[in-house]
Amino acid sequence: MHFHIMTLFPEMVLDGLHTSIIGRAVEKGCISVEAVNIRDYTRDKHKKVDDYTYGGGAGMLMQAQPVYDCWKALEEKIAVRKEDSQGNKKTRVVYVTPQGEVFTQRKAAELSREEDLIFLCGHYEGIDERVLEEIVTDYISIGDYVLTGGELPAMVMVDAISRLVPGVLSNGESAQTESHADGLLEYPQYSRPEVWHDKKVPDVLLSGHHANIEKWRLEQSLERTRERRPEMYEAYITAHPPKPPKNRRRQERN
Ligand code: ADE
Repeated sequence: MHFHIMTLFPEMVLDGLHTSIIGRAVEKGCISVEAVNIRDYTRDKHKKVDDYTYGGGAGMLMQAQPVYDCWKALEEKIAVRKEDSQGNKKTRVVYVTPQGEVFTQRKAAELSREEDLIFLCGHYEGIDERVLEEIVTDYISIGDYVLTGGELPAMVMVDAISRLVPGVLSNGESAQTESHADGLLEYPQYSRPEVWHDKKVPDVLLSGHHANIEKWRLEQSLERTRERRPEMYEAYITAHPPKPPKNRRRQERN
């Protein structure tokens, strides 16, 4: 997976993404992260990339030309690399914006199957609509609040997507059982010591009885989701209605 981030602050993105698990994944070659400075593509002699909005209103808008030229250069570079393997399939361009659909684990999984992804980070009051119409394929927000720019949301999404790319997580860091993987929050977990602040680890976890442990974990996941995320719990129960007891199922068949 190759991430390409179009931004006015490339060092912010690279500093943030070249540490810890994502940094190791880059070193291992499972993913690559490049940040391209949109300002490098302005044709303005003062290196300006923004201007006032038509119709008035507060703040400045990023102009179409530098954004378009930056995307064009990236797209051409990606096309050259892909020529042998992928033909000329267009690379998805994600504009990170509070006006987009809200990012979820499902979206992360969908995007993790792409070979290349371009993220476009806006600043100031946003970006001229005309260039967005021409290049953007996905409008995605990380939540219903407004940040000062698109870099942090892009980093959040790159992190969430990367951990689903094969080879990025080691076996000990599995993405299978965690919260949101199956539409439920994860069950509570405990490590040594067995008793801490007079609180004992639940007996079932010490029993070695795997079926009982699985059952307990599912019950805990359901309970935790019902309490903390009722809308998520309702969606899960609708998709997985509880099975009627065995004798009732027999009666229904007769
Ligand atoms: N840019 C500013 N706020 C944002 C948000 N919540 N999600 C994505 N991009 C943003």
